[in-house]
Amino acid sequence: MTLLETLGINLPIIQAPMAGVSSPALAAAVSNRGALGSIAVGAVDPARARRMIVAVRERSAHALNVNVFCHRPAQAERAIEASWLDHLRPYFASFDAAPPNELHEIYKSFVADDAMLAALVAERPRIVSFHFGLPREEQIRALRAAGIVLLATATNVAEGRAAADAGVHAIVAQGYEAGGHRGIFDPDAQDSCLGTLALTRILVRELDLPVIAAGGIMDGAGIAAVLRLGACAAQLGTAFIACDESDADAGYRDALASDAAKHTVMTRAISGRPARCLKNQFTMLGASVSDRQIPAYPIAYDAGKALNAAAKAAHVSGYGAQWAGQGAPLFRALPAGELVAILARELAEHA
Ligand SMILES: Cc1cc2nc3c(=O)[nH]c(=O)nc-3n(C[C@H](O)[C@H](O)[C@H](O)COP(=O)(O)O)c2cc1C
Repeated sequence: MTLLETLGINLPIIQAPMAGVSSPALAAAVSNRGALGSIAVGAVDPARARRMIVAVRERSAHALNVNVFCHRPAQAERAIEASWLDHLRPYFASFDAAPPNELHEIYKSFVADDAMLAALVAERPRIVSFHFGLPREEQIRALRAAGIVLLATATNVAEGRAAADAGVHAIVAQGYEAGGHRGIFDPDAQDSCLGTLALTRILVRELDLPVIAAGGIMDGAGIAAVLRLGACAAQLGTAFIACDESDADAGYRDALASDAAKHTVMTRAISGRPARCLKNQFTMLGASVSDRQIPAYPIAYDAGKALNAAAKAAHVSGYGAQWAGQGAPLFRALPAGELVAILARELAEHA
């Protein structure tokens, strides 16, 4: 069986799961055109995840990918959190606001969330994908027993092998160009920063599983290029941010259309994990702090979201988590179904 048959799609195109951006309407519009639509439930609770899956199903009977975060549960370090809040105090003050008194782990890792596992087994989306690591063995067994196809992000060979050994069906090779959070399993380990081209090629050679390339792919030419490298499909995130159905806010869309798109930055300051963002006030703040000053993911994100809320209340959008990949200047603002049709046409022209 080919990967596309396993995923139940006609086109080798996956709309990336994007927490906060990939709405059920976006995923449904993509799936209805023969590509794979994805929603991300890493930042919501199981009840909300089920409502999101139902919302996709109300709009589409096609395949759906549901994405969860598998990071190591956060270790609270009160001294680092307090000093980080002190560091951010002047930024809050510039919006006549104060930082929160303390920070919390604002959402659970799937690794520690068997209520989410039960929700997924009950809803049985065709596909579940993992970011930031792998779930526990028994969670993989339960999802497989429910007939769910499993994908996992890898940023290097060791992660790809670990995912293959754990029993996933295909690997998402996420290059350093990619927008959003880097899927690296251990954010404190040395990052080899492999680009999409090299990583895809290496994983195709080293692993016995289908590889899906992700990072910097924005059009049919990019999709054709990674297929030629041996990938079975391409996963595109940034390409879909400005679609009508996405949940990106106006400030994010404006930033994407600005010069900032030419200057994406890998930063840890917003959430506590490295993530590629459009250059904005938050990435500039992050440029002058060391990793050790920043609390663990997602505890740091509690502060990041509070600072963004204070800024937005003052009509400033530069503190948003405006994730985007290096291909950002190539974005197109269209209804998602139209974008998929154009990608398919461009792919045919370059095949
Ligand atoms: C706004 C945004 C949010 C993202 N959120 C997630 C997520 O929740 N889960 C996940 O596995 N990947 C997430 N990613 C990463 C994508 O899966 C994918 O690796 C990336 O978008 C590919 O690079 P590109 O943006 O250059 O296409 C996100 C990417 C973006 C741009």
